[in-house]
Amino acid sequence: MNPSLLVDSPRSSAAAPVLRTKAELRAAVAAAKREGKTVGLVPTMGYLHEGHLSLIRAARAECGLVVMSLFVNPTQFGPGDDLDRYPRDEERDRRLAAEAGADLVFAPAVEEVYSAGASTAVEVTGALTGVLDGDPERRGPEHFRGVTTVVAKLFNVVDPDVAYFGQKDAQQAVVIRRMARDLDFPVRVEVLATVREPDGLAMSSRNAYLEPADRERATALSRALAAAERGAHADTLAAGLEAARAELAAAAIEPEYLEARDAETLEAVAELGARPVLVAVAARVGAARLIDNVLIQPATSNRPNT
Ligand code: PAJ
Repeated sequence: MNPSLLVDSPRSSAAAPVLRTKAELRAAVAAAKREGKTVGLVPTMGYLHEGHLSLIRAARAECGLVVMSLFVNPTQFGPGDDLDRYPRDEERDRRLAAEAGADLVFAPAVEEVYSAGASTAVEVTGALTGVLDGDPERRGPEHFRGVTTVVAKLFNVVDPDVAYFGQKDAQQAVVIRRMARDLDFPVRVEVLATVREPDGLAMSSRNAYLEPADRERATALSRALAAAERGAHADTLAAGLEAARAELAAAAIEPEYLEARDAETLEAVAELGARPVLVAVAARVGAARLIDNVLIQPATSNRPNT
């Protein structure tokens, strides 16, 4: 784009300013804090969609300074993962981020984030990172170690009052909440609802990998989760999971996992009880590995209508 257009265009189509170094970012945050502003952080790997933008809008509504980080974090990708082909479009991301209300985009190079010889990681141990995506047969606990390490570093550099994450990555949100609590990060972790396409598919940067026929098949994931919730309330959790499997099978989707777990501890659960249950699914559909989930609230007769 012609740079003069950037300067002259109205704010709604201008790109958010980008900072590349931790020092610049710390200075910008310190200046905002001196003015008494609260700081909101929205960590992303870019290729923004409405899910990301909903987090930025929430941050804009609550915070004086909104920082979006844009960093495709290599330490959370495994050897066979899609790091090299992960979709990227920084110009578009900066424009969309500004439109949604971000004041700054922090887009550092890999070497700025991980200095040579970096040998420290942050790891939430145990069940939270060993099940579902953390199962060693799947992405493994190393995936979450990469996530918590980079998020801890972002928390240290930005020092946000509030950090925003999506329920789309339910296990990631649980793991980050636990890390913030265990390591006394003075940040409020907000987890916001999954944003979906009109046909139910959870928005994801990885949906860009789907060929048209696979894009159509992928709608079975959200149908399966809806069937799980309906079945669990109408009958039993097991019946709900059975109905979900049938939805996936009808679309010729073999899930990597489809499991019901306590929404906070991620322990396996067999029945609905007094606590919210997370039903999570992962499946390869064509060239994309997709995840989605539904949170099933306890079935009480006087449950508020939320
Ligand atoms: P990324 O996949 O880019 O997602 C950034 C944030 O957007 C995450 O909190 C994710 O849960 C949220 N998000 C993604 N799709 C969403 C949807 N459909 N609705 C609502 N929120 C959605 O998650 C990561 O990046 C990385 O692991 C990161 C946390 C940035 C660490 O590298």
